Amino acid sequence: MSELALTRLADYQPPDFTTLSHVLRVVLDDGEAEIHHQQRFVRQGASNAALVLDGEALTVQSLAIDGVALESTAWQYDGKQLIITDVPDAFALKSVVHVDADGNKELSGLYRSNGIYCTQCEAQGFRRISFALDRPDVLATYDVRIEADQARCPVLLSNGDLIDQGMLDNGRHYAHWHDPHPKPSYLFAVVAGDLAEAQRSVTTPHGNELDLCIYTEAAFIEQTDFAMDSLVHAIEWDETRFDLDYDLTRFNIVAISDFNMGAMENKSLNVFNTRFVLGDTATATDQDFQGIESVIGHEYFHNWTGNRITCRDWFQLSLKEGLTVFRDQEFSADRGEAALERIANVNMLRRVQFAEDAGPLAHPVQPQAYAAIDNFYTATVYEKGAEIIRMYHTIIGEEAFQAGMRLYVQRHDGQAVRIEDFAACMSEASGFPFDGDFFRWYTHQGTPRVVFSSHYDEASRCLTLRAEQQTEKVKPQAALVIPVVFSLLNKAGEVYRFSDEAASDLWVLEEAVEERVIHDIDGEWLPVWLHGFSAPIYYDYGYQHADLAHIVAHADDGFARVEAMQTLYRRLFNAAYQQDEATYQTLISATSAVMGNALASDARSAGEKALLLSIPATASLINALATPWDMDAVLGAEIRLRHDLSSMLAEQADAYLQQDDTSTDSAYSAADAQIRQLRAVLLAHLAEADSGQWRARFTGAYEQARNMSERMAALHALNVRHDAAREAALADFAERFADYPLVLDKYYALQASAKDEGALARINALSEREGFVISNPNRFRALVGAFAQNLTLFHAPDGSGYRFVIGQIRRIVTLNPQLAARMLNTFAVAAQLDSSRQGLMTGELNSLLEVDGISTDVREVIERILGGL
Ligand code: ARG
Ligand code: ZN
Repeated sequence: MSELALTRLADYQPPDFTTLSHVLRVVLDDGEAEIHHQQRFVRQGASNAALVLDGEALTVQSLAIDGVALESTAWQYDGKQLIITDVPDAFALKSVVHVDADGNKELSGLYRSNGIYCTQCEAQGFRRISFALDRPDVLATYDVRIEADQARCPVLLSNGDLIDQGMLDNGRHYAHWHDPHPKPSYLFAVVAGDLAEAQRSVTTPHGNELDLCIYTEAAFIEQTDFAMDSLVHAIEWDETRFDLDYDLTRFNIVAISDFNMGAMENKSLNVFNTRFVLGDTATATDQDFQGIESVIGHEYFHNWTGNRITCRDWFQLSLKEGLTVFRDQEFSADRGEAALERIANVNMLRRVQFAEDAGPLAHPVQPQAYAAIDNFYTATVYEKGAEIIRMYHTIIGEEAFQAGMRLYVQRHDGQAVRIEDFAACMSEASGFPFDGDFFRWYTHQGTPRVVFSSHYDEASRCLTLRAEQQTEKVKPQAALVIPVVFSLLNKAGEVYRFSDEAASDLWVLEEAVEERVIHDIDGEWLPVWLHGFSAPIYYDYGYQHADLAHIVAHADDGFARVEAMQTLYRRLFNAAYQQDEATYQTLISATSAVMGNALASDARSAGEKALLLSIPATASLINALATPWDMDAVLGAEIRLRHDLSSMLAEQADAYLQQDDTSTDSAYSAADAQIRQLRAVLLAHLAEADSGQWRARFTGAYEQARNMSERMAALHALNVRHDAAREAALADFAERFADYPLVLDKYYALQASAKDEGALARINALSEREGFVISNPNRFRALVGAFAQNLTLFHAPDGSGYRFVIGQIRRIVTLNPQLAARMLNTFAVAAQLDSSRQGLMTGELNSLLEVDGISTDVREVIERILGGL
């Protein structure tokens, strides 16, 4: 059916040539660039192999080998590859090409955003700047001279060290950078523009003296303090927890408004979406601050896990991403309350990755084939990849894990390696065979399910625990190695002490069915499974509702407590969905009682209370339902459940909110964030329960907000219904923050998450307004992305929601294919829907396929979705 050419892991070949060094002269002028590029090649493969370089959207001006210009018959360029048939074994190629930065709206390669030239090369953007062996297993040094108009581009940046700068004729100037660390082309970066700078010099715990710089447009520079603090914390953390030091003296971050992803770890010159750099308490929520800290950490941590040790090929993407996500999660956990961080990560994993794994876009963490690599920057490669790293850590513990890391760095520094190489180091350092059956976590797809049961034998005083893996969702089908951390809890709420006095134990499942016997024990112990979510699986155990309440009250693991609460919500949701009235009635009072106790408890942090009182996202609740889903019943169940639970909690929530708010408003702190999060959750419950009586209160909360977190909490409460109070607050908000694009994104997202009957018409009108700049990915994601999460509108039975989203994607589908392909992911859910909705989605997707000039990445996503029906 498809003409898409696939790249396969099994076909990997080392390159015929390697590149030793690049010397680039990047001449920028008026939105265009001339790239003078000299690179030294050495033959690695067959003596007659031609030189084949990647190159896309380049206009060739000249080519020369060892100083001799090439005749036009000596080379061919078809817009994708440059082929030079007859080359020596070692030589220098000099090329001059022309690049249209302003014409580049794909935001891959070299482009200009708000007057700032910048680059994005991962995965295959370098070939849009110049000819190269644009693959991660070719590592070379880069020497870069940038030239531009001094007034328009006072700041000129590239990787490594600044070795020289000066003036040229005609008001132009240059800067000369040299990166001594050999790197693959995807880590190359150039930035030029009128940028303001925030600078900080630090001495690290290991005594390194570093210069840290953050650049952004002058109007935003005051909002970079928190990002700078985060960078300092990240550097300190990597030294103290992983014993990894930075390897240059200067580290630069540039924040750009138009950026396709979160950020990019280019060597010593990280380029960020402004969203993950800018923020002060007036403009950023606590969640935004947490996002900034984690992404700043993530990109910084890549310096070792990604840059110094990189990937042999793109099938190994999780080698750097899974490991680096694990590192950034640990960083955030160490900076805040670990259990809360873990719960937030798991909620996201279940909502996004479990859904991905269950649909037509499912793929192994180490994929086997792709048409467009950009489509594989997924929750599976990142988040499930991080879960796998966490399982290594759980199985062998921190000490052996760090020994494995040391071995990995010592053995592979400066190399481009495979996931297998990481597993081998961990195996050698710990003695656990991660390169054996455990490795199936990388090569198999789908989420396994484990059914736990237990049996107590009075006579022998033995408790037998049983675990049975259900592997029908695992492809190819096989049992996995599953670390299960569990504890036992008795009626009095005491925790069983295992022989080594530990409160929890680790049980590593290796077979499809396993049993484990605990001897000489009383009959009353209740197993609490999967502390800290020790494996990314579905699991069942026949808990009574009352058992779950007992776990919420007494388990000694924060994750397990919130998990038990979530199980109650899930059961309630299922009862509502199946219209099982008897169960629903029993559960609703049980659940609301547990909620009330949680709120009143003295033993729980505010942050944990907030999570205990948060009903899981519907997108994660539906994953466990039998397919096809009855979407009308899903939406009905969601509304009923939220309304009922919120109404029962309302009085207590109201009373709690009347008490003093003990959070301060000066700067972000993890402790204050917890208090505000709880208050926001309670306010949301009031809004769900509301029949109008609290609208004035919400307006008051909006007007008196001391910071963006409080402001957004009030707006979310107002946004539940469409009335004059909502309109007034939203209008005020848009006006007050007219000069803050990131805050306006929040406005668009709020609008797109309204659920009332008139909402779609208003959202449509918004999409036609001037402020809706389709070339800005943040704005596009704010409106269209939020709309696609708005299940009520998105899944409207008449197809209007699908039509709206596809209509918007059509506007950018050839302009910014990467963004379009990513937004199309929400249609993967088609496979689980009723035939009517499936038909509506199929019609829309097919209509998009008709668009002229559709790209490989967009085609690949659509074909895989349609192929899964
Ligand atoms: N390596 C970057 C990061 O995870 C993301 C790059 C995404 N690239 C892409 N083509 N989607 O920090
Ligand atoms: Zn990354």
